[in-house]
Amino acid sequence: MPTVDQYLQTNAPRFEQDLCELLRIASVSTDPAYRAEIDRAAQWVADRLRRLGLSTELIQTEGHPLIYAESPHIEGAPTALVYGHYDVQPADPLDLWISPPFEPTVRDGNLYARGATDDKGQFLTHVFSVEAWLAAEGRLPLNVKYLIEGEEEIGSASLQAYLEQHADRLACDCVVISDGAQFAPGQPAITYGLRGIAYFDLVLKGPARDLHSGTFGGSVTNPANVLARMLASLVDEHGRIRVPGFYDDVVPLSPREREGFARLDFDERRYFEQIGVDGAIGEEGYTTLERRWARPTCDVNGLWSGYQGKGAKTVLPAEAGAKFSFRLVPNQDPSKITAALRAMLAAMCPPGIRFELTAHHNSPGVLVPLESPYVQAAARAIEQAFGRAPVFTREGGSIPIVLSFHEHLHADTLLIGWGQDDDNTHSPNEKFALGDFHRGIGASARLWDELSRVTK
Ligand code: BES
Ligand code: ZN
Repeated sequence: MPTVDQYLQTNAPRFEQDLCELLRIASVSTDPAYRAEIDRAAQWVADRLRRLGLSTELIQTEGHPLIYAESPHIEGAPTALVYGHYDVQPADPLDLWISPPFEPTVRDGNLYARGATDDKGQFLTHVFSVEAWLAAEGRLPLNVKYLIEGEEEIGSASLQAYLEQHADRLACDCVVISDGAQFAPGQPAITYGLRGIAYFDLVLKGPARDLHSGTFGGSVTNPANVLARMLASLVDEHGRIRVPGFYDDVVPLSPREREGFARLDFDERRYFEQIGVDGAIGEEGYTTLERRWARPTCDVNGLWSGYQGKGAKTVLPAEAGAKFSFRLVPNQDPSKITAALRAMLAAMCPPGIRFELTAHHNSPGVLVPLESPYVQAAARAIEQAFGRAPVFTREGGSIPIVLSFHEHLHADTLLIGWGQDDDNTHSPNEKFALGDFHRGIGASARLWDELSRVTK
């Protein structure tokens, strides 16, 4: 019988093929046109887990299907719950992809495809590691459960409902999530904080139809002008958000945490270079890492109105709209912020304009405890597989369900991302380094062993 490591080595090419199979499914969650692909991806995940011999259920919800699976129960051993998501963000703009988003392609040791790192390639590391254990050892050293969903990129509403009703079934000692990044190439990280989010769609409606801007301009309120004013009023010149009460519940960064961030070997020049900018403005008084990880933000995500074609058209548009969102930090309440925003914009709405503000998904930010023995176990597993001890970081992104795991399962979450900041998540040419993929599988295989030794 091979050892776990031998099995991982021999099967490395097949793990890549399996991942490519899943990546060929265009499981975009936000657009109903992809519903059949969502179902195909869910089915693929369920089949894959069933093939490991795990008791597996494909669960239909009001939204997209969930997959739940569990290994045969070992009395007295700890239980880890692996969480991941098979849904992906839209691939647009398509013309900027070097190879098509749903035709996985390897270039320079990187696998390019939408979902490669976010999150198909990452959650599968925890599936392949279990496969290796079962093949090499014939058993797992602990109990492993899987909960894989298809709505992470749109707020996890169905999972939220399921979790509230089935906390018993999902009971565990720790939740394992790989859906983020290492600190830098060759420098793995354990993440202890995520930002939350509150996402909005604002539509301003003015005249009943588009008008000649010469005949009517000046006498009619232009919704695009008003939209620009409303959006500009959300953030002041110091980078502070102007929604009343926005900062009331923000916990200031402790000097200790700021020192921790400052000690990290962060190459700011390389960071901006990679993004293709020559610098940035942001909230005054905070470093780039603090702004990214631990301070709230407001960003316009989409903007439309008037004539978008070539040349010039003298039009006074009938409508204008924007999608925008706040990233929130732990302890901020998305519903309080939604109410304050609505009141602020309503007060700014001039005669001649009707405004419609739709609140999309929202989720609170989280901090996970670092004192946990499971975190120590994860640090050991990561150090063995990556050859370097992890640093402790926060992340600017959101994983909406994490706080609910804490509230409903009372379990610590291990946020152990295998990706890189330049993996182009949500952008064209998303990639996952195959080296990170295989080191991730290796770290996961060791994680099961390390977690099994934690005494409750
Ligand atoms: N994988 C990301 C979250 C993430 C990004 C974690 C960067 C750590 C570092 C996740 O799939 C994601 O993008 N989530 C959305 C959630 C939102 C749409 C509710 C996000 O953050 O935009
Ligand atoms: Zn993700």
